Amino acid sequence: MTTISEQLVGAALATPNLDEAADALAGAVNGAYAAVGPPGPRLKDLLSGTWLGHPLHPALTDVPVGAWTVALALDVLGERRGAKIAIGIGLLGAAGAAASGLTDWVVTFGKRRQLGVAHAAVNGTATLLYASSYLLRGRADTLAIGLSTIGYGLVSLGALYGGVLSLDWQIGVNHAHNTDAPDDEVDVGALSDIPDGGMKRVDAKGYPVLLVRRGGDVYAIAALCAHAGGPLDEGTLDGDVVRCPWHGSQFCVRDGSIVNGPSAFPQPAFNVRISGERVLLAGPATSSGP
Ligand code: FES
Repeated sequence: MTTISEQLVGAALATPNLDEAADALAGAVNGAYAAVGPPGPRLKDLLSGTWLGHPLHPALTDVPVGAWTVALALDVLGERRGAKIAIGIGLLGAAGAAASGLTDWVVTFGKRRQLGVAHAAVNGTATLLYASSYLLRGRADTLAIGLSTIGYGLVSLGALYGGVLSLDWQIGVNHAHNTDAPDDEVDVGALSDIPDGGMKRVDAKGYPVLLVRRGGDVYAIAALCAHAGGPLDEGTLDGDVVRCPWHGSQFCVRDGSIVNGPSAFPQPAFNVRISGERVLLAGPATSSGP
């Protein structure tokens, strides 16, 4: 038996021309960033939450959802002025949530990309209804309240799609937390097996680790990119910076810190001990788990 959530997601994915709509929206987002010019990558990092160490989108979505819930309650109580102010606050929050959400979405593919465009369409329609409601308040209150009430239904559906994208389909979650990494010392191979100035992926009791060698020193960070699980060992190494092959996040191999997004999470880093010819992983050097 399918759940209500599965039925709603299935209905969204069955929408005709979803891929065409996604292509058009992605073209618009990429075109907007291209038009911004050199500050574009910094703006992307700002909207992705790279500076915060946490995705920005889920935090910003609380603003319109919260403000529009308050507006609904104030409309029920007959507090028209307060409801209009709450709708205005929600519209400001929706603008930020849309910018950050589109920045996260534009690098997705497959069903995530399809549901993401449905999520954007539903929330975009809700925002237009709220903007219309805001403008009509004081002149046609009954129509204005009707539009915002329909908008609330849509934004609730958009929130469900957002929850599926994040909690179920893993967009915006940390794909490289170190809670499953071994705490005790693990022998991960011979020093001579790692090319000097190069990198090698090893398995530490089931946890994939990227080793980078500089002469007699070895650095270790999680091998799967925190952004979406890309294999960093298949990326490129430039000095102390490894670049993910999937969406281009860059991390310092010495401590896992983010050099460039879109990842909002740093890579877990590990202590390394060299014993003779053996390389020993000696527990997490940074904490990214509970
Ligand atoms: S998986 Fe997206 S940047 Fe690495």
